[in-house]
Amino acid sequence: MSETKKTATLTIDDASYDLPVHSPTSGPDVLDIRKLYAQAGVFTYDPGFTSTASCESTITYIDGEEGVLTHRGYAIGDLAGKSHYLEVCYLLLYGTLPTTTELEEFENTITHHTMLHEQMVNFFRGFRRDAHPMAIMVGVVGAMSAFYHDSTDINDPRQREIASHRLIAKMPTIAAMAYKYTIGQPFVSPRNDLDYASNFLRMCFAVPAEDYEVNPILSRAMDRIFTLHADHEQNASTSTVRLASSSGANPFACIAAGIACLWGPAHGGANQACLEMLKEIGSVDRIPEYIARAKDKNDPFRLMGFGHRVYKNMDPRATVMKESADEVLELLGVEDNPLLQVAKELEQIALNDPYFKDKKLFPNVDFYSGIILEAMGFPTSMFTPIFALSRTVGWISQWKEQLSDPAHKIGRPRQLYLGEDVREYVDIENR
Ligand code: CMC
Repeated sequence: MSETKKTATLTIDDASYDLPVHSPTSGPDVLDIRKLYAQAGVFTYDPGFTSTASCESTITYIDGEEGVLTHRGYAIGDLAGKSHYLEVCYLLLYGTLPTTTELEEFENTITHHTMLHEQMVNFFRGFRRDAHPMAIMVGVVGAMSAFYHDSTDINDPRQREIASHRLIAKMPTIAAMAYKYTIGQPFVSPRNDLDYASNFLRMCFAVPAEDYEVNPILSRAMDRIFTLHADHEQNASTSTVRLASSSGANPFACIAAGIACLWGPAHGGANQACLEMLKEIGSVDRIPEYIARAKDKNDPFRLMGFGHRVYKNMDPRATVMKESADEVLELLGVEDNPLLQVAKELEQIALNDPYFKDKKLFPNVDFYSGIILEAMGFPTSMFTPIFALSRTVGWISQWKEQLSDPAHKIGRPRQLYLGEDVREYVDIENR
C-alpha cells in the first residue's frame, strides 16, 4: 500500500471522519474507506464501480481521458509495434521484459504445454454440435480442474506457475477445438515448429486433407489481436476472476468464471454483436437509419463497437488495430464483402457525427478486431473465444498478483437495501 500523506474529511451529521488518501504512481488519488463502516456505520454506494478502486495493482494503467494504456509502464503502441504476444505475456506475468534466454525458455515452456489431455476430447464430444464455442470454452476450461489436479493448489507457488503456463498454452488449442467441433471437422493438433499465432490459425483452418499455409501478414495481425487484448486493468471479467479467486477457488475455475463474464455483449461479446449489427445493416445506404436509431433516446439500440466506459478519447488499442485492419483488408480485399464496406463507411460517418463526437464515442478495439477476424474467415461466434484466449494471460497475471498480496481477503460487497422491512409471516390460507 502506498504511503498516505493526505487525508480527506467526511462529515456526517455532527461527526467527522478522517479518511487516508493514497497517491498512485499515475491516476487520481484514492480515498481509503476500509474502516468507514466500523467507524461511522455507513456504506458507500457505487453500482458499476465507476468510482471504486477494488485492489492495488502494478500491472496495467489506463488514462481514459488521454487515451493511454500501459502494461508494466510500456505503452501499448510500442508493445504492439515492437514486441509480440508471448513477450507481452512474459511482461504481464513477471513484471519485466525478458532477456533473450528468458524469452526462449518461456516460449519453449508454452509451446510444450499446448496439447490437451486426450480424455478431454470425450468432454468436447458431449456438447451439442451447434453449441456456441464460448459455451464450450466455459465448460472445458472449468473442467481443466478435473484433468490437471496437480496444478490446483493455490498455496503452492510451483503449482500456480504450472497452471499459468497450462492455461496460456492450452487456450488456443481449446478455442480451435471448440471451433472445429461446431463445424464438424476433425481436431487439428498443435505443432511445435509454429509460433503461437500461426499455430492457432493452423489449428482453426487446416484439415487432414490439406494443410494450411500461414500467411505472415495474417499471422502478424492475429498476434496483434492477441497482444492488444492481453490485459485491461480491472474490467468486468478481470474483476470476476479476482472475486472468484478471493474465495480460494482453483485457477481453472476462476478463469472459467472470467470467460463467462467476458461473453456478454457489453464486454467481450461486443465484437460478435458488432459484426451481427453490420450484417443487419446490410448495405451502406441503410447506415443513416441505424445512426438515427442509435441517437434515439426511446430506442435501446446502440452502435456496437462504439464507446467505452473508460476511454473518452480514441482507444489506443483501436488505433493500432485500425492499422492492422487496413493491412489485412488490403491483402484480402473488401470489394466483394458488403459487410466490410458497411464497416468502413460507418466508421467514417460516426467519427464525424456530432452526437458521437460530443459523447466521446469512438470506435473501440472490438470494432476493428471484428472486421479483421471476419476478413480472415472466422465466423462471428469465434470472435469472443479469441478475445478470451488473448485475455487469459491478463486474468492470470491479476490472479497471481492478488494471491501474492498479503492483504487480500474474500470480496464481499454490501448493498443499499430497499426491500420490505421485517413483517409477519401469513399462513397460505389467509393470503
Ligand atoms: N451507441 C449509441 N449511444 C451510446 C453508445 C453507443 N454504442 N454508447 C454509449 N452511448 C450513449 C448512451 O446512450 C449515453 O447517452 P446519455 O448520456 O444521453 O444517456 C452516453 O453515451 C453514455 O453511455 P453509458 O451507457 O452511460 O456509458 P457506459 O460507460 O456505461 O457504457 C459501454 C460503456 C461500452 C457499455 C457502451 O458505450 C456500449 O454499450 N457500447 C456498445 C458495446 C460495446 O462496443 N462494448 C465494448 C466495449 S470495449 C471492449 C471491452 O472492454 O470489453
